[in-house]
Amino acid sequence: ALPVKSAGSVMSASLRLVAVRNSSSKPKVAVLGASGGIGQPLGLLLKQDPLIAHLSLYDVVNTPGVAADLSHIDSNAKVSAHTGPAELAAAVEGADVIVIPAGVPRKPGMTRDDLFNTNAGIVRDLCQTIAKVAPKALVAIITNPVNSTVPIAVEVFKKAGSYDKRRIFGVTTLDVVRSQAFVSDLKGTDASKTVVPVVGGHAGITIIPLLSQTSPKVSFTQPEIEKLTPRIQDAGTEVVNAKAGAGSATLSMALAGARFANSLLRALKGEKVVQCAYVESEAVKGVNFFSTPLELGPNGVEKILGVGKVTPFEQKLIDASVPELNKNIAKGVKFVSG
Ligand code: NAD
Ligand code: LMR
Repeated sequence: ALPVKSAGSVMSASLRLVAVRNSSSKPKVAVLGASGGIGQPLGLLLKQDPLIAHLSLYDVVNTPGVAADLSHIDSNAKVSAHTGPAELAAAVEGADVIVIPAGVPRKPGMTRDDLFNTNAGIVRDLCQTIAKVAPKALVAIITNPVNSTVPIAVEVFKKAGSYDKRRIFGVTTLDVVRSQAFVSDLKGTDASKTVVPVVGGHAGITIIPLLSQTSPKVSFTQPEIEKLTPRIQDAGTEVVNAKAGAGSATLSMALAGARFANSLLRALKGEKVVQCAYVESEAVKGVNFFSTPLELGPNGVEKILGVGKVTPFEQKLIDASVPELNKNIAKGVKFVSG
């Protein structure tokens, strides 16, 4: 049973967390980019996750303040602060899960790919240390452009000789969260029980909600599908424009990141958990990275469940995403391997 008092029990309902009693392991989660727009609310949510024993916060600025603030919350996770490259190894050493929201966000008029020049180097440098110091960690990459930053991470791990394709994830949970929000709004279903898989990648036409697989089952008219699909694909831009230069989604992303991290932690404890994420995958012919539902376990990806039964409309979207993803993947690989 969940403890009655703690803030964790309140958050756990909204995060769909599952409390596990008498845990013998002491999971450590590191957040790299912990002082940012996503990093701070992500830290707030993770501080309340009863599965976390040690929350390690790393950034190039402001981590002492964020850590002091979070450490006053009466939940069990211990908080540590690490600032700047000289403290990165200590931040990730012994981490079971590492979540990376480090990097610059979009402004109106930009694509996610426009962030490549700044963020590619950030992800490469962080992963060089992780590949050496914490090669067994499950690494969840939020930094955009995810379609390219995940292949960058993979190349870095390969170069270091510590790549395990089950352990590196591009976080696409926000696409799932949005789809579930929009579908439940439209159909009047219980948002906390509505499940919508989203496959492909995390930018524009590569974001493919499989509305036909919504559960519990709901039916959509073709006009509804043709309106909802681009809304989900462009939802990030909707937030970027609404924030009018002040950044991109941070609060919904923090929730999505905390939910994904919790899934990894539950999987590490042996629970079978299904989540969508962008990983190295043979699920779709002609492309080496793809997000589909995954069965997660103690070593990360246990089984790639694939796209399942899709409609002709969804298949067309999948086919159209392949050349776009290949372009994004090649750009990431070239950045590391020349
Ligand atoms: P932000 O600018 O508010 O925060 C970024 C943080 O990263 C800052 O605190 C900064 O100091 C830190 N940082 C910069 N370089 C660093 C380095 N080398 N090491 C560690 N930390 C470093 O940005 P944000 O709004 O938090 O967004 C972060 C990233 O997440 C962006 O790339 C954004 O596009 C991406 N994002 C992804 C998704 C998704 O669904 N995957 C959703 C929203 C945002
Ligand atoms: C999102 O989907 O909100 C993020 O990828 C941020 C962005 O740039 O849209």
